[in-house]
Amino acid sequence: AYVVTEACIKCKYMDCVEVCPVDCFYEGENMLVINPNECIDCGVCEPECPAEAIVPDTEPNLEKWAELNAKFSAEWPNVTVKGETPADADDFKGVPGKYDAHFS
Ligand code: SF4
Ligand code: F3S
Repeated sequence: AYVVTEACIKCKYMDCVEVCPVDCFYEGENMLVINPNECIDCGVCEPECPAEAIVPDTEPNLEKWAELNAKFSAEWPNVTVKGETPADADDFKGVPGKYDAHFS
């Protein structure tokens, strides 16, 4: 499966939801996650994210993010339509430490 990582936090551009053929994105307050059981590994969302937040789980050191995507995709609502990007999204693009500072 593909996973949404720290770069999404507080950016939430949501271009990803528009292209997913199986609608497997789920929405939290500060980020989106992918349901690993529904993702078909098509990869079309990866280049759509302006924050480069989406990566395949075959990349190293993604255990924390894979767990987070699995956990919260079971709790958060499904999202299939691109919503409003936060006005200050660009201020958080590429900023490190967003998980500790802003994840809720
Ligand atoms: Fe959806 Fe494909 Fe991205 Fe998986 S890899 S979340 S199926 S667009
Ligand atoms: Fe997040 Fe990128 Fe989608 S910032 S909401 S993963 S387009």
